[in-house]
Amino acid sequence: MIVSTKVLFEQAYKKYAVGAYNINNAEQVMALFRGNINSKAPFILQLSKGARSYTDKRLLEAMIRAADEIFPEAIFAVHLDHGDEENCYDCIDSGFYSSVMIDASGEEFEENIAITKRVVDRAHEKGVAVEAELGKLGGVEEHVSVSEADAKLTDPEQVEEFVKRTGCDSLACAIGTSHGAYKFSGSQGLHFEVIEKIAELLPGFPLVMHGSSSVPQDEVERINAAGGELKGAKGVDEDEIHKAGKMGVTKVNIDTDGRLVWCRVHREHFRDHPEVFDLRPAGKVFMGEYAKYIEHKNEVLGSAGRLEEVRAAVK
Ligand code: 13P
Repeated sequence: MIVSTKVLFEQAYKKYAVGAYNINNAEQVMALFRGNINSKAPFILQLSKGARSYTDKRLLEAMIRAADEIFPEAIFAVHLDHGDEENCYDCIDSGFYSSVMIDASGEEFEENIAITKRVVDRAHEKGVAVEAELGKLGGVEEHVSVSEADAKLTDPEQVEEFVKRTGCDSLACAIGTSHGAYKFSGSQGLHFEVIEKIAELLPGFPLVMHGSSSVPQDEVERINAAGGELKGAKGVDEDEIHKAGKMGVTKVNIDTDGRLVWCRVHREHFRDHPEVFDLRPAGKVFMGEYAKYIEHKNEVLGSAGRLEEVRAAVK
């Protein structure tokens, strides 16, 4: 059942974080639903601009509708990840999306507010929620690329004015993470002092953490042992993710970890079975492994086992 992102946030706020998983193809869709059902977790399925044009947005959306039928017990929201104004309007007008993210974080404060407000006005007319971003995350997420020098933590002094003037429903904050497989150098981690300040200034308001993949080191080692060259890949400590969830970080975005599982499975499979050229055996292994990953991550987030209380709230 597709539900409003806001309802998921109301249920989760400061109790647990909802996993927001990026999806590109049929195998990911199947495994995502299986993993969430196995761990009885509500979730957010998010599509980026790149995912919507990889095959065709209509194909991807049709797969999600089909998965909704195949897994009638699932409760989830459909979200546009890192939209520009045009993508946001396309998703809002389609009537299919629970929420959109307008990412105008590359603009100056006033321009970010102006763009976000335009999207919020149009989205709210149709009952669609809006995630906005303030501050600048480093790293590469598809079409968005920000160098470490340009990355900027969210300034807590700006959040109240930003939320008030834009009317957005959740806020993506730069709190120390970055997109992709190369986060942090040395012993850096999340900036809990920034999360704490923002949560204090915006009580009850859901915060979003982008760049939340943990980049499991065993995945990286297995990928490299099977011919990959991921050097120095590093992600967010899972204990820190759990702690952030209790402080008001209500949506946790994960894309890279799913790609790592895909990469590891396929590299190992074709290394170990050089005579194979069928795509399905590896696809099957991937679906099982990705579902297991989702189950594990939902335990970390605290969303595992919450499905029935969410169902009672949406009825
Ligand atoms: P990761 O690259 O850490 O998976 O982050 C994904 C993300 O934030 C998508 O918006």
